[in-house]
Amino acid sequence: MQTWDRMAHRSALRLGPLLLLSLCASSTPVSLLRRLGEHLGQIQDSSSPSLSLGPGAVAIPKQGWLEQPLDPFNASDTRSFLQRYWVNDQHWTSQRGPVFLHLGGESSLRSGSVLRGHPTALAPAWGALVIGLEHRFYGLSVPPGGLDVAQLRFLSSRHALADVASARLALARLFNVSSSSPWICFGGSYAGSLAAWARLKFPHLIFASVASSAPVRATLDFSEYNEVVSRSLTRTALGGSPECRAAASAAFAEVERRLHAGGATRSALRAELGACSPLDRAEDQAELLGALQALVGGAVQYDAQAGVPLSVRGLCGLLLEGRSNRSRSAPYHGLRRAVQVVMHSLGQRCLSFSRAETVAQLKVTDSQVSGVGDRQWLYQTCTEFGFYITCEGPRCPFSQVPALPSQLELCEQVFGLSASSVVQAVAQTNSYYGGQTPGATQVLFINGDTDPWHVLSITQASGPLESALLIPSASHCMDMAPDRPSDSPSLRLGRQSIFQQLQTWLRLAEESQVRSRA
Ligand SMILES: *[C@@H]1O[C@H](CO)[C@@H](O)[C@H](O)[C@H]1NC(C)=O
Ligand SMILES: *[C@@H]1O[C@H](CO)[C@@H](O)[C@H](O)[C@H]1NC(C)=O
Ligand SMILES: *[C@@H]1O[C@H](CO)[C@@H](O)[C@H](O)[C@H]1NC(C)=O
Repeated sequence: MQTWDRMAHRSALRLGPLLLLSLCASSTPVSLLRRLGEHLGQIQDSSSPSLSLGPGAVAIPKQGWLEQPLDPFNASDTRSFLQRYWVNDQHWTSQRGPVFLHLGGESSLRSGSVLRGHPTALAPAWGALVIGLEHRFYGLSVPPGGLDVAQLRFLSSRHALADVASARLALARLFNVSSSSPWICFGGSYAGSLAAWARLKFPHLIFASVASSAPVRATLDFSEYNEVVSRSLTRTALGGSPECRAAASAAFAEVERRLHAGGATRSALRAELGACSPLDRAEDQAELLGALQALVGGAVQYDAQAGVPLSVRGLCGLLLEGRSNRSRSAPYHGLRRAVQVVMHSLGQRCLSFSRAETVAQLKVTDSQVSGVGDRQWLYQTCTEFGFYITCEGPRCPFSQVPALPSQLELCEQVFGLSASSVVQAVAQTNSYYGGQTPGATQVLFINGDTDPWHVLSITQASGPLESALLIPSASHCMDMAPDRPSDSPSLRLGRQSIFQQLQTWLRLAEESQVRSRA
């Protein structure tokens, strides 16, 4: 809980979805969602049964470190850093067995990455060695020298992929893995994109990849996010309804009305929403509205996942609770309750909506303080992906705050990166990886149609060499989570398809092993 305690007094609610669960991370800058994700991951880790080890057994998982070049693209730069990995070899029966390489994303990679959920749950069937590789610059894999801008030049998905390639070779030597063993990459969210790209760029090293909820298309203005949120709030299968969506809109309108009313009304709003400081500045009001959007977005993105304080059903229940009173403020009171529920589950006394404080925190270059990776991920959004969630179109049910300028301003304020350089970087990312038509073979893309990120992923196979699966009513990275009795039939079916796809690939690998031995 150490990280969490450290985080507790930091800015809590802010816009920024792709948030991370223990197995699947991702997010926009400093966000409520990142806080929530860390929290959920810790809950899941502490509640998982410990492995029963026989006498003389070695503890699982093992943690190890690889020395990696800081700049893999410049042979005359000899600086290096230590990259952390986790190993679970309890199912690995033969050196010819497959290796499941679980890639970390934009947060620290927990031991849970090789203990539960997929890929680990899939390992016994094929006697696979499971290895989790933390992403450079996150968790404990931060290069010496911290997070200043000169150093962050070595943080990008391309650097991370170079690490995957060299780790793949080094680990094969270290564990004496047979040269004919197939290596399969797994990952969720941004790390899912990395898994797909690892196969795309290094097909001689990576036999196949399973990419969960992978937003392979970079986009500056991610307005589709809130369109999916809006649609999901109306879906009866999730516990939503058109009335729920309307109540969400009404609640936001009421928050705005109270913000603009000023005086005692605004002070009361501050107390009711648990804000740490006054909401007089326009920029802080925008932060508040962004955070409330993230709260609703989080209920959709993480719908029905273990440990989540609010699902769509729970949120809609609160928003519609006072419906019979026919009072204009009933939905507002529901939203207020929702804020309290989330605040309580995060163990926070109040929530900071101070823009100045957010900027100050993002400027901290000490990696101890920046433990959750907000600064690093902001850098990657500014230099590669964008992913800025906005609410400007008529289909967005929330307050229409112009979010893009303020997001771009953050790149400028924190890193000195101009808006035009961000625009250019996003376009370059898509031309380098191919966006939603990467042309990779032996990659399975899995998404849930509740998850707002699925619109940036691949949900339909464009040819016989591509596989894609869109799981109805599933949220972000849900396929990777451990099985639960409450899992929907479509989720179970989805997990079965992943198993079958692996079966097909591993048979293919076996056939080529046999051929090369003959
Ligand atoms: C490569 O590394 C050397 C040694 O650190 C450095 O002098 C040089 O500027 C680097 N080249 C590039 C293109 O970064
Ligand atoms: C590595 O594995 C091969 C079989 O694949 C075996 O012959 C060899 O002895 C092993 N080497 C070590 C150092 O374990
Ligand atoms: C609705 O009205 C009832 C009875 O008047 C009251 O007890 C309740 O608190 C009201 N609920 C809301 C959300 O205003």
